[in-house]
Amino acid sequence: MNATLTTIPFVDLKAQYLSIKEDIDKAIQDVIDQTAFIGGAPIKQFEAAFAAYIGTKHCIACGNGTDSIEIILKAMNIGADDEVIVPANSWISTSEAVSAIGATPVFVDVDEFYSISISLAEKKITSKTKAIIPVHLYGHPADMPAVMQLAEKYKLKVIEDCAQSHGAEINGKRTGTWGHAASFSFYPGKNLGAYGDAGAMLTNNDELAAVCRQIANHGQIKKHHHVREGRNSRMDTLQAAILLAKLPYIDQWTNARVKHAALYDKLLKDADVVIPGVKNNCTHVYHLYVIRTENREKLQAYLKENGVETVIHYPTALPFLPCYHQYKLTPVDFPGAFHNQSRILSLPMYAELSNEQIHYIADLIKRFDR
Ligand SMILES: Cc1ncc(COP(=O)(O)O)c(C=O)c1O
Repeated sequence: MNATLTTIPFVDLKAQYLSIKEDIDKAIQDVIDQTAFIGGAPIKQFEAAFAAYIGTKHCIACGNGTDSIEIILKAMNIGADDEVIVPANSWISTSEAVSAIGATPVFVDVDEFYSISISLAEKKITSKTKAIIPVHLYGHPADMPAVMQLAEKYKLKVIEDCAQSHGAEINGKRTGTWGHAASFSFYPGKNLGAYGDAGAMLTNNDELAAVCRQIANHGQIKKHHHVREGRNSRMDTLQAAILLAKLPYIDQWTNARVKHAALYDKLLKDADVVIPGVKNNCTHVYHLYVIRTENREKLQAYLKENGVETVIHYPTALPFLPCYHQYKLTPVDFPGAFHNQSRILSLPMYAELSNEQIHYIADLIKRFDR
């Protein structure tokens, strides 16, 4: 391995910026020239372009992905005394948004693709259950045909958490188009990332879209006409302009991620690790390339010593976090998430990663002496 390549960051946002510097610099300069920092033209343009890309009628830009889940739940009139089903493994936003509107998150264990188990979800449904939030974790779609069947049977609302799955498909249909609404995050490290916080709510439902739009902008339907109390969760124009400039590249970046994942798969197939699976009818967009391994801490330290940064998504599954201790949940209730949390390890994954770097990482893993 070439000495200049011996530090491989977990993500490399600088490399991506440099690859499209002219587009980004122009987008930013245009916003500054217009000084329309809030509500400028790029907002509507990005909303239209992203809705068209995912395949929904509406896209409402907002402040971040967490807000987008919370606002959708509110717009669906979900609140105190209601229960919302969420997977045991996700970033905390998924369950945090449920608690924030006064409802109770009900955790369900994960399947072999790290997604919510639908058979287990059905067992958690009560008369209080109003919604389910499947998360397309790591970029692999949750089983949406099964989620929609369950939702139909029990009259539940479905909010897809697409923070990690921009462009992923099930049966050729994108994540974000299956449920009643979808939440997206454009946190900088996401597959489509802003240069700060940003998010969006997508839906085909005109009424829901209108209410989400109101809530995200102080309940206004026009300036100073507040039909409800809302909040300030607007995407700013700079973020919209940057996202608009980046959107044309997303398929190219996703294809690079998929190619890198295939190379990791090939090189690691005989190593003593579990590589990520992909369901037959799905495309995985590899927001994260997550392996499982025994002795994870030692492997992570060894990779670090050799210049490879890795991250754990997530070291503690949601039911076991201190903030949920009041629910008295135990590993026995979530054997899948509990098993995974001490074994999962996310390897470097981004479009600009080189084959040489992937070979270097895979060689280290294969040579690792447990
Ligand atoms: C699965 C999941 N849901 C929700 C979010 C929340 O997004 P944001 O950080 O934009 O609030 C994230 C982002 O980290 C995420 O990974």
